[in-house]
Amino acid sequence: MGHFITFEGPEGSGKTTIISKVYEQLVKTYDAIVTREPGGIAISELIREILLAKGNDMDARTEALLFAAARRQHLIEKVVPALKADKIVLCDRFVDSSIAYQGFARGIGTDEVMSINRFAIEDYMPDLTIYLKLDPEVGLRRIESNNRDHNRLDAEEISFHRDVVLGYNELSDNNPERIKIVDADQSPEKVAADALEIINQYLEQGVNQS
Ligand code: TMP
Repeated sequence: MGHFITFEGPEGSGKTTIISKVYEQLVKTYDAIVTREPGGIAISELIREILLAKGNDMDARTEALLFAAARRQHLIEKVVPALKADKIVLCDRFVDSSIAYQGFARGIGTDEVMSINRFAIEDYMPDLTIYLKLDPEVGLRRIESNNRDHNRLDAEEISFHRDVVLGYNELSDNNPERIKIVDADQSPEKVAADALEIINQYLEQGVNQS
């Protein structure tokens, strides 16, 4: 089996930039792929369009179910085959996003969100998660200054984004072995270097153990 490495964090934490920088380095030594949630394959990209389209008054549980459905298809169609081919899978978001956004910020609760996700992901969990930690205010200001369009979720009010971060903080407190924190309030080069150091440490340990 390969290695399933996920990247998590609030809006504007720079996940996409950091993942591509990390990938550029890893691919020199390892067979690696980059993918994202919701999306990464055709069906899940279609579900992403529904989820992120503005102007819909979507029920919170419908939202959670759609994220879980997109996750299931992406996992089975892309992630698991890549892991079985011994690749490193770098994935922009996974189930921790649903716990932080739907469980905490939407208020559905961790147990409820985890139970529908258990159905979707069975026993698959990331081997390592890089949590790009950032104040929600800083993240939202970055989105503004990059002139990126707000989607339905990042257009939520600031209290929602604060709850997302509280959710991530609790998740990382409860899973210190899997979830490693990187300070995202630094230059992209430094953030990527910090993430890479953690990933290399993890990969070297894995090699030593086998
Ligand atoms: P992205 O902007 O990182 O591509 O993610 C899309 C949005 O979807 C972002 O606002 C976070 C949100 N999201 C959830 O609310 N729950 C989830 O399970 C996932 C994967 C993403």
